[in-house]
Amino acid sequence: MCGIVGYIGNKNATEILTQGLKRLEYRGYDSAGVAVFDGKEIQTVKAKGRLKNLKDELLKTPVTGNLGIGHTRWATHGAPCAKNSHPHTSQDGKIAVVHNGIIENYEQLRAMLENKGYTFKSETDTEVIPHLVELYYDGDIFCAVKKAVSHLSGSYALGIICENEPDKLVAVRKESPLIIGVGDGENFIASDIPAILSETENVYFLNDGEIAVITKDTVDIFGKDGEPVIKKPEKVTFSENAAQKDGYEHFMLKEIYEQPRAVADTLRGRLADGMPVKFDDFDSKLISKFRKIYIVACGTAYHAGLVGKMAIEKLAKLPTDVELASEFRYNEPLIDSETMVIAISQSGETADTLAGVRLAKSSGAYVLAITNVLGSSISREADMTFYTYAGPEISVASTKAYTTQLVALYLFALFLAENKNSALPTEIDIVKKELLKLPVSLKKVLELEGEIKRISKKIYKETDMYYLGRGLDYAVAMEGSLKLKEISYIHSETYAGGELKHGPIALIEKDTVVIAISTNKEICAKMDSNIKEVTTRGAYTIAIVNEATAPQHTACSHMVVMPGEGSVLSPVTSAIPLQLLAYHVAYQKGEAIDKPRNLAKSVTVE
Ligand code: M6R
Repeated sequence: MCGIVGYIGNKNATEILTQGLKRLEYRGYDSAGVAVFDGKEIQTVKAKGRLKNLKDELLKTPVTGNLGIGHTRWATHGAPCAKNSHPHTSQDGKIAVVHNGIIENYEQLRAMLENKGYTFKSETDTEVIPHLVELYYDGDIFCAVKKAVSHLSGSYALGIICENEPDKLVAVRKESPLIIGVGDGENFIASDIPAILSETENVYFLNDGEIAVITKDTVDIFGKDGEPVIKKPEKVTFSENAAQKDGYEHFMLKEIYEQPRAVADTLRGRLADGMPVKFDDFDSKLISKFRKIYIVACGTAYHAGLVGKMAIEKLAKLPTDVELASEFRYNEPLIDSETMVIAISQSGETADTLAGVRLAKSSGAYVLAITNVLGSSISREADMTFYTYAGPEISVASTKAYTTQLVALYLFALFLAENKNSALPTEIDIVKKELLKLPVSLKKVLELEGEIKRISKKIYKETDMYYLGRGLDYAVAMEGSLKLKEISYIHSETYAGGELKHGPIALIEKDTVVIAISTNKEICAKMDSNIKEVTTRGAYTIAIVNEATAPQHTACSHMVVMPGEGSVLSPVTSAIPLQLLAYHVAYQKGEAIDKPRNLAKSVTVE
């Protein structure tokens, strides 16, 4: 979704803004722009399409200065075009604004402002903001912004500059993330850490409703009530390198290969041989009060939740429901103080998941967040946050965030089981040992890339594919299918093996590609029947199996055999061949793997 960068200091703002926007490209966007104070007035330059177009525009109309704001826009209100892209300016051109989020009452505000004689240049919800600020401006930009935002409903992260006060950059947020980067004689704002990581590691995380007035040497933060807020900048832990491709052609491939490291980092300090699981600061005394768990998430995180449910129910014997956050928030779920809600979100900013967290909290539930982003909105609102240490995930298609979410959920299931005595110590021990071996197991599975690449060359021209699985493999199949859709644009659907004969088998014809995941020795004979049901109807079947299940699957067209015999942790290892398959199919098709069409990395609108 949209990205924000802002700068105040002694350097060339235009350069810093365009570099920062480049690092936010992964969020998805369709136009970009900057507004820079050139010493006399604010100059705005915008372009539809990629940042390259903005840079071309900047070559035609160069602008330099020490204060500026920049934006990448992912269209919601109004088509993607230069006119609708940000920054938007006030009627007199003296105030410029970049905005992430959605202003829900913009139509009323626009009508009110038009009545007062303001004319609008765009179709966006955002443009009401610079006009409102102008309306309230009487020499103090902070006061004008404070008054203007008091009229806004919806969500916003705003960066604002004013020609009359060129020593200030104003930042304010509600339900959309915004951080302030602290430099030496310079300061920054950004919607996301990677944008400013090359400039500073020290950041303030703005809370909902806070307004910051930033000069090149100071950062003053004020609460909703206008009172100063005292806080210290936090040091961010990931390096700029982590946000670079490191020689890989795509971030997605780099992130697939980072999984052994990401899983090891997520386990570190939480699981050691012969020791009870440490689930960070989770208070084990709370466990006895929970009667039920809801896992709430979207997309890939939801698929992780499906696996988490099975692990928690198996080991901790606690009834667990998994809900899509976008449904949960409107479904009147049965929540009370004996309910735990686990919100899973890589970004920690997904609007639907955040709304689920708020609903859960207002109904008295305890909220545990599993997220990858320090200081994210969900982490701030949850009762406790368990961080996955995947490092920044830049590719829109989630890979290492998913596997580390799985690890977090296994750790939690084990932690509950150890504290509730709900599973045999031998059973718990086996899972712990397997978890500790995971980084090595993942490295071995990654060696299958060459074989998967060859398969992808056979199937990349398909228009439809089907994924099958049973139990844990069904959840993994759903994730594999989502990956394929997202980056290759091939239509694919997932079915539980046993459901085939209840309808979907009608779709199978000669050469239909079916990807069957079978990692559980106990039910692989059943899966094999499903594979035979489709192969006898002419399907081209690719089975993802392991050494224990491979002997069962002689009927398939191609078998990818993962090392090992499989366990309750199979979803982590079998994710890898499916991620690689999606990647190589998309690669063969020549698609924009890291930035798939219509998708955004962080979905901060409903
Ligand atoms: O940041 P989140 O984990 O909350 O994001 C949830 C989904 O938007 C996300 O997993 C999405 O499905 C990814 N593009 C999957 O690859």
